[in-house]
Amino acid sequence: MADSLRTLLSRLSPGDRLPSSRELIKEYRVGPATVARAIAALAAEGAVVTRPGSGTYVAQRTRLHDEAAAVDTDWQTVALTDRAVDTHLMAEPLGPSPAGTITMDGGYVHRSLQPTRALSAALARAARRPDAWDRAPAGGLPELRTVFAHIIGGSVAPEDVLVTAGGQSALSIAFRAIAGPGSPVLVESPTYPRALAAARAAGLRPVPVPLDADGVRPDLLADAFAMTGARLLYCQPTYQNPTGTVLAPERRSQILDVARASGAFVIEDDFARHLGHGGPVPRPLVADDRDGTVVHVTSLTKPAAPSLRIGALVARGPVMERMRAVRLVDDFFVTRPLQEAALEVLSSPSWERHVRSLGTALRERCGMLAAAITQEIPGAALAGLPTGGLHLWVRLPPGVDDTVLTNAARQRGVAVSAGSRYFATEPPAAHLRVGFAATADHAELTEGARRLGAALADLGPRQE
Ligand SMILES: Cc1ncc(COP(=O)(O)O)c(C=O)c1O
Repeated sequence: MADSLRTLLSRLSPGDRLPSSRELIKEYRVGPATVARAIAALAAEGAVVTRPGSGTYVAQRTRLHDEAAAVDTDWQTVALTDRAVDTHLMAEPLGPSPAGTITMDGGYVHRSLQPTRALSAALARAARRPDAWDRAPAGGLPELRTVFAHIIGGSVAPEDVLVTAGGQSALSIAFRAIAGPGSPVLVESPTYPRALAAARAAGLRPVPVPLDADGVRPDLLADAFAMTGARLLYCQPTYQNPTGTVLAPERRSQILDVARASGAFVIEDDFARHLGHGGPVPRPLVADDRDGTVVHVTSLTKPAAPSLRIGALVARGPVMERMRAVRLVDDFFVTRPLQEAALEVLSSPSWERHVRSLGTALRERCGMLAAAITQEIPGAALAGLPTGGLHLWVRLPPGVDDTVLTNAARQRGVAVSAGSRYFATEPPAAHLRVGFAATADHAELTEGARRLGAALADLGPRQE
């Protein structure tokens, strides 16, 4: 279908409108999901743009595109045989959003919720220090490692902390350091797609283990370790992305016991520690780890700003040596002024105030979006209101395809994430991940839900 559309595009001019989805379905005798996926693929290539409420148009060709077209890179297709990095899971699936789109697919908080002034002042001060552009220690600034160790608590010491460029870099380092190409890695199902991509880029084979309302199931986890011989579990015990689940207290020690009995590491991705909605935030698994089972990942990008790319890996034993080595191979150390700025922001008394007010804002938005979704999408199911994080995980009514609805929503001017991206294998049901943190305000949030409802109505009656 995408090829047919490319042929069609070659006959059209930039700015021309493509036939509507209904017309394409009729003309090419294919289903709505096929049309939606083909348009999504072309949008990702930059060949078409979708305009909310208007339709899909042939993209304007830029000079860059024309020059790129003049370069013959076909030989690269032969040279680039194995696909190590899953570009589909790394890229925005539908390409950049058209102007006016309400962003409910993002993983960061809106600028109005970021401590922008504190960050800018801290970075300006950091840049004025005489040692600003010196090398930083490979493990990170000692004072920053101390602050991270203090926040994590338990018996974690500054020497157990390795500063990284955000959580994604930490995940990539951990996967490569812990397991060799071809090894299985157990993952919660559903899970964060870019963790799947990082694992696959390291040559690992993700094996899904189902979650329920209390987090990953220890009984199925034990079976999965036994069946696969995996030596690694990747999990998010606190405000899991995408479901918002918190691992129940009794399961915390069970998960560690199961991993320990299998001789396996547990990567604890604690990306959402500072995104609680005001209730008590559970202790991280690593705080009670006595034997180096847990490799903990933390990051400041979510509560602060996406470009404060500072995070940390926390671990004990030879695995830390490996991770330090991988870090050095990658890029030596994290930019010093950014580490200094993070240290200043984290150590300031205003940081806790910021985290508290962020939590309050997230709780309000979460409740408001849940009510709006329940009203706009009859038959949608929410697995309870999350107590932390940035998203709602919405189970769609029977007969609704998540990719088709995501594409229709885009046409209506709201960007949401199709649930199938979050599963390593076949999804058991259709879901959407709908974010409440990246919109400008409450009005935009309810308008986003309204547009989503209108997109669902566009799909017409369902075959259940
Ligand atoms: C579960 C999870 N882990 C890690 C990350 C990485 O974020 P960053 O690299 O910005 O710290 C994200 C970002 O979306 C995430 O959702």
